[in-house]
Amino acid sequence: MRGLFITFEGNDGSGKSSALHTIMEKLQKSGYDVLYSREPGGSKVAEKIREVILDKDNLGMDDRTEALLYAASRREHLDKTIIPALKEGKIILCDRYIDSSLAYQGYARNIGIDEVYKMNLFATESLLPDLTILVCVRPEIGMQRIKKDNREMDRLELEKMSFHQKVYEGYLELAKKFPERIKVIDGEQTREKVVEDIEKVLMPLLKEKYDNK
Ligand code: TYD
Repeated sequence: MRGLFITFEGNDGSGKSSALHTIMEKLQKSGYDVLYSREPGGSKVAEKIREVILDKDNLGMDDRTEALLYAASRREHLDKTIIPALKEGKIILCDRYIDSSLAYQGYARNIGIDEVYKMNLFATESLLPDLTILVCVRPEIGMQRIKKDNREMDRLELEKMSFHQKVYEGYLELAKKFPERIKVIDGEQTREKVVEDIEKVLMPLLKEKYDNK
């Protein structure tokens, strides 16, 4: 039996990670077999690549190098973590996946969504999520939230506001391009409402797959 591969996407400060953790706890309490993972990272080699990508010392990194590193880390993550869990029938909740590369490298870095998509289809052997939850907030709100948290920003978060604006636009493009797979959630609502909206799209899929046996 194949499991379910669910990814969470969103621009920086969208609140997707905290929503993901709440959903995960709820699913585990209901008895579902859930695996959490996140990109970049999620396996030994992928975590090493993550350090290189997010290191603030690497500010001059070439855009295509960046895209290739994300894809390489994704490949490792898929091979070592995602595919084995899918084979075991688990529900994988993954914080970021292919759409992050399409929005950040493809659209915001101007490499082109289609170019980055092709390269990622090679890296993933076309393994796409069953469902992608896209939590969006206007970039000015997202960045305000990050500043309020007072934590150190990584290399990507330190980008100019125009970059964050483009990431946001890129995600909206993706939602139009893949309407079947990507469901958009308004991240400017209360945390409770964000979780509720996610459950509305997620639960029917889970019930169909696991509860009708
Ligand atoms: P991280 O702190 O893990 O993420 P989050 O913002 O989800 O809390 O940082 C990951 C950064 O890398 C984030 O700014 C998005 C970016 N990113 C890409 O540019 N391309 C990708 O393919 C992925 C997976 C992430």
